Amino acid sequence: MKTPEFLQLHQIDDALLAREAAQGLKAARARVAPKFFYDALGSRLFDAITELPEYYPTRTEAAIFTAHGAAIADAALAATGPAPTLVDLGAGNCAKAARLFPLLAPRRYVAVDISIDYLRQALAALQREHPATSLVGVGLDFSSRLELPAALADGPALLFYPGSSIGNFAPDEALRLLRQARAAAAGGALLIGVDLVKPASVLEPAYDDALGVTAAFNLNLLRHLNRLLQADFVLRDWRHVAFFDAAESRIEMHLEARRTLTVTWPDSERVFAAGERIHTENSAKWRPEAFDALLRTAGFTSVRRWTDAQGWFAVCLAAG
Ligand code: AVI
Repeated sequence: MKTPEFLQLHQIDDALLAREAAQGLKAARARVAPKFFYDALGSRLFDAITELPEYYPTRTEAAIFTAHGAAIADAALAATGPAPTLVDLGAGNCAKAARLFPLLAPRRYVAVDISIDYLRQALAALQREHPATSLVGVGLDFSSRLELPAALADGPALLFYPGSSIGNFAPDEALRLLRQARAAAAGGALLIGVDLVKPASVLEPAYDDALGVTAAFNLNLLRHLNRLLQADFVLRDWRHVAFFDAAESRIEMHLEARRTLTVTWPDSERVFAAGERIHTENSAKWRPEAFDALLRTAGFTSVRRWTDAQGWFAVCLAAG
């Protein structure tokens, strides 16, 4: 049986992250990047979100793979050739990619996440099920730059980026990431999940659920900042706000001050007026043709798309 290999290409620098967060808090319109959601508790709250009845993306994407998995795999293998390298961006527990193994029979699986510590257990379990497949865990912050080590770039690969995480990037950053994904695929393909435009009556509850899990996920960012920045946010002073901006075609999440208050951290402070907000996340919702156009702008020359019956979510295979 093979054993998983690990490469840590990125060191998490808390001082740098603290500076970035402080800069966002001091901006005229305060903002904090969504990556600050994902401390240990934030990652578990996100997992809980994916199980909520209101949060349709995870189960809708899974249903598309259940219905069309064989056709998707055939199209992917036509682009990469048999037994490809499968590169999983933001692999986490590797569960979504593991479901593709029987269809793709990859010769090598490269799981990329910000920290290899998240990947160790998942890859050990996967290796027991697939003893002959080469498994590699790569610790990399691909949101800054997606570039795989030369040793892993030996022919056309299938890059896998499910979950519509591309929607959390600003449009210029999303385009940059797609261009880098195309380069990393080296003539292979990108298999990517994207969330589609739909009525606000479906979108808004998905980001403001009845149980309050998304509110907790958003507010937990303030706990994370308290730890990282040594700030003194009082969580009860803030409320979760989520709405669909149709003109921008995105869900926006904010934290809104319930009263006028001052937040302090070493060497700095900020006064927030009652009702003032910190912008914490955008989650873009695409029209299918607009996402096809984005993939083509990134350099892909062929795009295939599979959707669910309601047209809520799409899985796209971009090649060329
Ligand atoms: C990770 N990402 C795709 C989620 C989304 O739907 O934009 C993050 C999320 N934010 C609130 N709920 C889920």
